[in-house]
Amino acid sequence: MNIQQLLTQRVSQAMIMAGADKNCDALIKQSAKVQFGDYQANGIMSVAKKMGMPPRELAQTVLQHLDVDDIAEKVEIAGPGFINIFLKNSWIAEQNEVALSSDKLNITLPAKPQTIVVDYSAPNVAKEMHVGHLRSTIIGDASVRVLSFLGHNVIRANHVGDWGTQFGMLIAYLEKMQNEHANDMDLSDLESFYRAAKKHYDEDEIFAEKARNYVVKLQGGDEYCRDMWRKLVDITMTQNIATYKRLNVTLSLEDTMGESIYNSMLPNIVADLKQKGLAVESEGAIVVFLDEYKNKEGEPMGVIIQKSDGGYLYATTDIACAKYRYQTLHADRILYYTDSRQHQHLEQVWAIVHKAKYVPESLKLEHHMFGMMLGKDGKPFKTRSGDTVKLNDLLDEACERATTLIRSKNPDLSESELAKIVDAVAIGAVKYADLSKNRTTDYVFDWDNMLSFEGNTAPYLQYAYTRVLSIFKKSNISEKSLTANINLESDKERALATRLIQFDETISIVASEGTPHVLCAYLYEIATLFSSFYENCPILAAENENLKQSRLKLASLTAKTLKTGLEMLGIKSVDKM
Ligand code: ARG
Repeated sequence: MNIQQLLTQRVSQAMIMAGADKNCDALIKQSAKVQFGDYQANGIMSVAKKMGMPPRELAQTVLQHLDVDDIAEKVEIAGPGFINIFLKNSWIAEQNEVALSSDKLNITLPAKPQTIVVDYSAPNVAKEMHVGHLRSTIIGDASVRVLSFLGHNVIRANHVGDWGTQFGMLIAYLEKMQNEHANDMDLSDLESFYRAAKKHYDEDEIFAEKARNYVVKLQGGDEYCRDMWRKLVDITMTQNIATYKRLNVTLSLEDTMGESIYNSMLPNIVADLKQKGLAVESEGAIVVFLDEYKNKEGEPMGVIIQKSDGGYLYATTDIACAKYRYQTLHADRILYYTDSRQHQHLEQVWAIVHKAKYVPESLKLEHHMFGMMLGKDGKPFKTRSGDTVKLNDLLDEACERATTLIRSKNPDLSESELAKIVDAVAIGAVKYADLSKNRTTDYVFDWDNMLSFEGNTAPYLQYAYTRVLSIFKKSNISEKSLTANINLESDKERALATRLIQFDETISIVASEGTPHVLCAYLYEIATLFSSFYENCPILAAENENLKQSRLKLASLTAKTLKTGLEMLGIKSVDKM
């Protein structure tokens, strides 16, 4: 049940009956303070202005037409013309019951599921995944989980960097390695592989010549070069898939749609853009000039789509890719999870695909960008020696720290219990630290904060979940045996119960804006509200059996909401900690 939507319908209807335009917006928001009720309609003022009517007078007329007797116990006009809506306790309780007994917490599913392509992770072949890919992977995967939960047809697109001129040098180096170490070729450290290949390329002219030759051969479909290239892709992807698994990320090998698959489309794209008069030759290269982007001299900026040596660019691939996602995959929305530095690149690509009519304006192309991960010193996150931090090293450290932490909290755990909890907490903490921040800004990576049991952290939420479970365990009561109705007597109960039925509204924001931090903030609030409910309202020692069951039901819905929410974030919950 999406209360905001429900009230929007009701209030808009009353506004129309009061003479407002059919498209008027009631602007229903959750109220910021208890004295303003649970929801507020903020749309009266601007609509009244359009109608040339005093706002409070319009508000009065709207109230005469407003039919919310089933939902609200009180509706009042406040200030210049706000309408404050106070929900009925009995209605809130009823919605809690429905959520508790429905399998998806009574979330409103879209009438028409969409096909949504989510472009995320996208590491590069023969390179270690770096922190930028970590952010894209984690945030993108949370979006994928939320959209799938809502029943959309989600296509995970791992736009792996598996094509380009660097492959000549990589193939030449792989060949050299194979010749020198026939059996014990170690490619576990891709970063140093890449670096060594580059060093040879820069320093050894014979090697460089061979590398350049291999690029041409690879592009021409030469079998040997293709095989060597495949090997590099396979080695990289095997390692990445293992990392995804470790991170509890839903990407599998089948989701790989690397740059290489668009390669065969590129000559036609360039020819077509030329034929449409969009691309022209400029200083030997083929360029699309975009009026909407001006360079420093105020001239239209050029996007190169083919270099003078015939090579294609990152932009050319993304043009083909957007076309493919619309025309072949039939996407209704395409979400790109890349850092903010790629924003202009994507905007230019989208301008071109619109002009060329490869995709209609109605297709939603969205850049869900994010900032950088910083160290405690406020500089880009690096190791002490200034190298990029390897993802697996980062996760190893998370596990070590979580082991010490959990052991100190609960020394009696068996080794297998400990391992399970450490996995959930360590990976959860790293992911949550990222997910809980507004993705558009940079964020500081700080071990102590993310592993704290206090504040907006994964361990805090995971622990809150186990606390609710332990009430049921302690009392030996099963959820199914709860027959009494939910009854909201105190403020604490009401506050928790109201927030619990706002899960739907939260999810709908995350789904449309791709902002998991909104879900994190919500779950944190639920855990906090539960905690004060728990301290103030005895559950097992409640005055009577009905009250006890009512409170147990609220506890149970809290647990379900926390677990479902954490799952959407790709974070595991455990039964005890
Ligand atoms: N491989 C790219 C990188 O490492 C990210 C690709 C993002 N997706 C896209 N369609 N361009 O920066």
